[in-house]
Amino acid sequence: MSVTVIPVRLGARSHEILVGEGLLPSAWIHRLRDVSLSTRFFVVADRKLARLARAAARFLGARCAGLALLPGGEATKDLPVIRWLWAEAARRCLDRRTVVVVIGGGVLGDAVGFFSATYLRGLRVVQAPTTLMAQVDSAIGGKTGINLPVGKNLVGAFHQPSLVIADPGVLATLPTREFRAGLAEVVKYGVIADAALFLRLERHAAAVLARDPSELRRIIVRCAAIKARVISLDEREMRGLRATLNFGHTIGHALEAATRYGALMHGEAVALGIVAATGLSQRFAGLPARDAERIVALIARLGLPVRLPSSARRPLDKILAALRLDKKATGGRPRFVLAQKIGRVITDVPVPLAAIRAALRELDCAPRRPRPAFRG
Ligand SMILES: NC(=O)c1ccc[n+]([C@@H]2O[C@H](COP(=O)([O-])OP(=O)(O)OC[C@H]3O[C@@H](n4cnc5c(N)ncnc54)[C@H](O)[C@@H]3O)[C@@H](O)[C@H]2O)c1
Ligand SMILES: [Zn+2]
Repeated sequence: MSVTVIPVRLGARSHEILVGEGLLPSAWIHRLRDVSLSTRFFVVADRKLARLARAAARFLGARCAGLALLPGGEATKDLPVIRWLWAEAARRCLDRRTVVVVIGGGVLGDAVGFFSATYLRGLRVVQAPTTLMAQVDSAIGGKTGINLPVGKNLVGAFHQPSLVIADPGVLATLPTREFRAGLAEVVKYGVIADAALFLRLERHAAAVLARDPSELRRIIVRCAAIKARVISLDEREMRGLRATLNFGHTIGHALEAATRYGALMHGEAVALGIVAATGLSQRFAGLPARDAERIVALIARLGLPVRLPSSARRPLDKILAALRLDKKATGGRPRFVLAQKIGRVITDVPVPLAAIRAALRELDCAPRRPRPAFRG
């Protein structure tokens, strides 16, 4: 089995990201540093991956301190789930040396990561992401957390994993819509940092959509390497570099919030956010028209939305209000990450409200007035 090892350099919190088919359920364990034969593992997995999780638990044998299964989906990022995990941890006598292993998508990664950050003031955690979204993005970087009724990800902690295991083989069972949602983040990486990755996506879109294993692996390695580099240089988003990862997310988050996280998946909202940010980039960052056309065309080619589906249309003011509440808005003024060309972005660009309105209108955000009935 060939495994690509991507280092995340963070001093004492340094760790590796492994990418390789067949790493799960057990091949990863030899790469985990600082574990002894007495180390115990608490496996928490998405219910849909129960078979894989049971195989991991069987492999760990007596070292498995327990196996817990949780549903995927946003509702799991909630305090009662964390409280239940805390109680399970106490019941199973987990101690400071216990390593938590999370097998699941971004939801499990965020929620169980937060549990790991808080129980006994922090247990080590191994992230085994099972969605494309999680393999290229959410399992890397140490952001963990849960939602509050008033907003997403409002409670959380930075807690770096001890190891990330991305096995592209597990993506085979991912529903099409989930898979495509992850591709929005991949397009994002191309635009912010890697013109060659972007070109590869354009040239090999069919193979990507068919989930060709070698194509997937290449993409995951590239994206993970970009995020690892960003995190190594700007772990806590203090220098503006980590903020580049928010390309497409300012409007994306607002669309998610305005539709109450129901009508759009995160990746779909990001795809629309990228389309809007591309238009704004032409006006405010000098993005050439040809690059803008390529970005929108690639999003469409990958089966992602470039216009808001009618089920997700909301009054413009509602979306603008959500934009002002964004965690990253300063004094109610949203700041944008904009592209200068494919492969390079600038951050912290103030954009006039009128231009944001126009960009939203281009996405077909507002519900259309019903046409008057034809009277002959
Ligand atoms: N921490 C970060 O830096 C960061 C970054 C981006 C997104 N996120 C978070 O990630 C979450 C979204 O992640 P997601 O899209 O992976 O959601 P998810 O974890 O809910 O997974 C999506 C769906 O796929 C199912 N699933 C997971 N793996 C599967 C597999 N291999 N086969 C079949 N089905 C599978 C899940 O049960 C779920 O129904 C959001 O809560 C978002 O806030 C966090
Ligand atoms: Zn995202």
